[in-house]
Amino acid sequence: MADKMQSIISLCKRRGFVFPGSEIYGGLANTWDFGPLGVELVNNVKQLWWKRFVKDREDIVGISSAILMNPKVWEASGHLKGFSDPLVECKKCHVRLRADHLRENYSNKCPSCSGKEFTEERQFNLMFKTHIGPVEDESSVVYLRPETAQGMFVNFENVENTTRLKLPFGIAQIGKAFRNEITPGNFIFRVLEFEQMEIEYFITDADWEKYFSQWQNEMEKWLVEVLGIKKENFAIREHAKEELSHYSKKTVDFEYKYPFGQKELYGLAYRTDFDLKAHKLSLEGMVPHVIEPTFGIERTFLALLCDAYSEEEDRVVLKLKPSLAPYKVAAFPLLANKPELVKKAREVFELLKGEFPTIWDDRGNIGKRYYSQDEIGTPFCLTIDFDTLQDNTVTLRDRDTMKQERVKTSDLKNILQEKLKQ
Ligand code: GAP
Repeated sequence: MADKMQSIISLCKRRGFVFPGSEIYGGLANTWDFGPLGVELVNNVKQLWWKRFVKDREDIVGISSAILMNPKVWEASGHLKGFSDPLVECKKCHVRLRADHLRENYSNKCPSCSGKEFTEERQFNLMFKTHIGPVEDESSVVYLRPETAQGMFVNFENVENTTRLKLPFGIAQIGKAFRNEITPGNFIFRVLEFEQMEIEYFITDADWEKYFSQWQNEMEKWLVEVLGIKKENFAIREHAKEELSHYSKKTVDFEYKYPFGQKELYGLAYRTDFDLKAHKLSLEGMVPHVIEPTFGIERTFLALLCDAYSEEEDRVVLKLKPSLAPYKVAAFPLLANKPELVKKAREVFELLKGEFPTIWDDRGNIGKRYYSQDEIGTPFCLTIDFDTLQDNTVTLRDRDTMKQERVKTSDLKNILQEKLKQ
């Protein structure tokens, strides 16, 4: 299973999905950059999410709030006091570890030097600090937000006043969050800087169980119907009391079976009226309660690749849903050294590229080009050959079945539109 992870990481680097951050300077541990294909996949995920949960719904509106917020936000929200992990230090090699990880994953033995003696547990706040202005003192401290959620809570009244939405209603946002994680790792699974897609869904407290289960259902449908993640590859687990965040009365995690173990992909929390109360916000004299479905982009990306990655005899295929694939179509001339074929193939390419994300390839032989597209998940390939010059038909090849059919260029747009609806 570790091999599968290595294969995915190397595919990501080789084909331009994910690069190590600041690589030419030796990298910066646990930072990663999305490359040309990665950013397309990320954007497809974000667009599908925004359409499903904001545009297609009357009861949810979006915002995009600032990353830097008044530090009083984090005092009121409890993050200054409560957003910390227990940390220990190995007395021999001084590596720092999360106390719970040391117990659960390493049987109280230092993973770096096998030492068995550690310092006392100390709470370590996960928020990154920076300063506004030229003077770096306590009065200029600000934090990089560790969750996008607070931007939605502090704008609760602004949104309600401008939209006049009535309970139940939600505020959604997609944006960066930052955490000074003690034990980041596993590629992009636990990183210092990541993106969240979050919804704060405001309700009356009597309804919380009903909406909690509705949202659990919605999240499951998103995974299966929109992302195409196989049902057997994820599980839902309720948090035990001692695991709950400081604001939550009930949380369930959607856990994906990553090659390195079953770990949190998404969370769904009943945050009660904790946040609005803390910020002294209300609606017509009452404080709404909130259900919070939260989705991490990096973990979605990794789950998608793990689910879609498949090695078949002599090829590697990313079986991404067409709606998620970075390119939908690839167009090739059969031979790159025949100008009449190249000219015709360019015509077909131009015809399609305004309609669907289409890639051109004229390197190597046709077989290699097919495999190269399979590896990045392109659902359809088109080959323009000598027959095309005679009868205006092209070969359309399906990524998953590898079946080929001959279709008229004049029908291409309609045929592809139909096939890409899947
Ligand atoms: N507003 C609630 C909240 O932030 P969380 O469970 O701490 O809850 C939400 O984070 C989601 O953000 C997680 O389910 C995960 O997908 C993602 N996430 C959290 N920490 C992360 C990290 N260090 N690296 C990558 N993704 C992370």
